[in-house]
Amino acid sequence: MDSWTKEISKCIDGERIFSQSGRDAVIADKIFIVTGAAQGFGYGIAQAFAAMGARVALADMNERGAKDAAKVLASEYQSDCIGLAANVADEGQVAQMVADTVRHFGGLDVMVSCAGILKAGSLEDLTAEDFSRVNAVNYTGFFLCAKYASAVMKLQRGLDPARMHDIIEINSKSGLEGSKANFAYAGSKFGGIGLTQSFALELAPFGIKVNAICPGNLLDGPLWSDPEKGLFRQYLEAGKVPGAKTVEDVRAYYESKVPLGRGCRVDDVVRAVKYVIEQPYETGQAVPVTGGQVMLR
Ligand SMILES: NC(=O)c1ccc[n+]([C@@H]2O[C@H](COP(=O)([O-])OP(=O)(O)OC[C@H]3O[C@@H](n4cnc5c(N)ncnc54)[C@H](O)[C@@H]3O)[C@@H](O)[C@H]2O)c1
Repeated sequence: MDSWTKEISKCIDGERIFSQSGRDAVIADKIFIVTGAAQGFGYGIAQAFAAMGARVALADMNERGAKDAAKVLASEYQSDCIGLAANVADEGQVAQMVADTVRHFGGLDVMVSCAGILKAGSLEDLTAEDFSRVNAVNYTGFFLCAKYASAVMKLQRGLDPARMHDIIEINSKSGLEGSKANFAYAGSKFGGIGLTQSFALELAPFGIKVNAICPGNLLDGPLWSDPEKGLFRQYLEAGKVPGAKTVEDVRAYYESKVPLGRGCRVDDVVRAVKYVIEQPYETGQAVPVTGGQVMLR
């Protein structure tokens, strides 16, 4: 056993991780880490599970954002929430994030690897540096989160051989089909599905399920809707949508691509995350939440 694992094994508190308050039979008192939780999908997932009675570590590179968000959730839902500074592309910081969570809560049940970045661009435009940065966060970041979370989960499984744990990657519909002039992101997300399947095979004997959730476009989130630098504005200015004269035209074009007629919402993704936690017989899967825009073959 290495020194990190030795120290962490002393912090696991059997009584705390196995207690149940009964607020939500599946989720209550489970201990979560959600990365990228200062805003967007990460914040929405942390909020939903805090409301169900989970104990949540909200981790983000944006330390102020993570700490403020944790404070809001703790007071709104009377739930134990903490905010942590962590860059998921940095191994030392991920080890620290997991250790701080176990020190505070006494264990870890669910790792939601949500932090992600996107840098669109053609082969002509994108630099090797841009490509590496996207992969460092989306691909390597998921590996590091799974590595340190699974170490804790294996120790807990040693205390209770029936206990199940979850590692969940918030992937994308771009992890299921290519994305024009967006290959750095799509490649990192396709890679995430490869990691999900491989980790699932390796960790199944330890009762650790590993699944990816693949949302469609969160059209109401800041990435798309920010009035100055959101994708609607950028695509309008770049003339990406033929004939579009306003931001609303661009939005209508993206909505028209979805059979169910609207963008993905945080609550759609929360339902999928809850499903994979609740379902004890699902691992190594990529669950599309795309309103029918991308279907599995
Ligand atoms: N927005 C969409 O339409 C959409 C669609 C499908 C999938 N996704 C995926 O959902 C996840 C969240 O996306 P979002 O739209 O909520 O993004 P967002 O940009 O609104 O939020 C991302 C959060 O991650 C944090 N972050 C960025 N790099 C980090 C790092 N290295 N370490 C720790 N934190 C970091 C940011 O500070 C931010 O708080 C991403 O993995 C993304 O690929 C998003």
